[in-house]
Amino acid sequence: MKILVTGGAGYIGSHTCVALLEAGHEVIVADNLSNSKIEALDKIKQITNKEVVFYQVDVTNESEVESIFNNHKIDGVIHFAGYKAVGESVEKPISYYYNNVVSTLVLSNACLKYGVQRFVFSSSATVYGDNKVPFVETMDLLPTTNPYGETKAMSERILTDIVKANPSFSVALLRYFNPVGAHKSGLIGEAPNGIPNNLMPYVTQVAKGKLDKLRVFGNDYPTPDGTGVRDYIHVVDLAEGHVAALNDLTTGVKVFNLGTGKGTSVLELIHAFEKANEIKVPYEIVDRRAGDIASFYADTQKAEKELGWKAKLDVIDMCKDAWHFERNQ
Ligand code: NAD
Ligand code: UD1
Repeated sequence: MKILVTGGAGYIGSHTCVALLEAGHEVIVADNLSNSKIEALDKIKQITNKEVVFYQVDVTNESEVESIFNNHKIDGVIHFAGYKAVGESVEKPISYYYNNVVSTLVLSNACLKYGVQRFVFSSSATVYGDNKVPFVETMDLLPTTNPYGETKAMSERILTDIVKANPSFSVALLRYFNPVGAHKSGLIGEAPNGIPNNLMPYVTQVAKGKLDKLRVFGNDYPTPDGTGVRDYIHVVDLAEGHVAALNDLTTGVKVFNLGTGKGTSVLELIHAFEKANEIKVPYEIVDRRAGDIASFYADTQKAEKELGWKAKLDVIDMCKDAWHFERNQ
């Protein structure tokens, strides 16, 4: 199939381009490079020996998006493009709602106009709010604590309504848990601008000596060791989940959790990183981070049963590959 990948130069998008190319699909990337570098596309070529077609466009721009649909007979869209920093979304709600919601509207509208029936959307486990764990796809969504999370819940509702009105359009809503790690080659991975917000990139930068020490946000949660528990998923497994979801799309809206089903605490992750890479990660315990919840992980049965997809890589693989990528930076 010929797949339009928005945000394909970004962290998850670039790994998904690799997975798509390796599965024999053709890939067109639309990215405005607001949070990525064009070099990612060369790295994709180095890994796969295949080229992607690239458009440097803003996917909220209707005419630019439609010109891509005019130029190519597209079979499906995977929509990664968006802003993702939770804290920043509280400071800049307009830009988050605009970028993340308008892009979904513009792309789905172009799909209807050009008869493209497959749409895969990057959602997040954040839409479950503080539900009971494990999170199951059938749960009612709870309000999130920030505009970023709301853009994901809104985009899910918009796409669901579009399918109701256009039954030949089919959508997969993929709720990612905590993507970490990097491609085995060390060529592509997560390279956040400035000081990282998320745990794994912070850990790799501390290990490299770029940052002094990790601050562990709270050790008084009701979890086995008191630190926050998350379901970390290797980005390569996550990318393969997209290929599986794309192949499965026929009609209607399908929601899938993409996680491992296994919870790992902050301290467990630090110790796994130290063991996997034989390097120390200095840390101190500090107060809880506002807005954090104690623990969440996925119920993964639906993706396994319906997509035949299951994460294969473990936390040690995630730590090794994240470190390999960081050392290449
Ligand atoms: P990323 O920032 O690395 O990639 C997003 C890409 O989209 C970047 O290359 C950026 O330049 C591009 N982009 C942003 N706005 C654009 C626009 N208007 N037009 C064209 N390109 C645009 O982020 P990522 O981690 O790869 O995340 C991909 C998607 O997955 C996002 O929608 C994110 O919200 C979602 N998601 C990410 C995580 C995570 O932890 N990384 C978790 C859950 C969901
Ligand atoms: C983040 C996003 C969330 C998104 C999820 C999945 C935030 C606030 N939330 O959540 O919207 O759905 O990723 O990608 O960014 N931690 C530390 N020290 C640090 C950084 C993190 O102790 O320097 C702890 C956190 O308290 C948490 C765990 O590590 O317990 C994971 O944190 P993080 O990587 O930021 O992800 P989430 O909080 O799960």
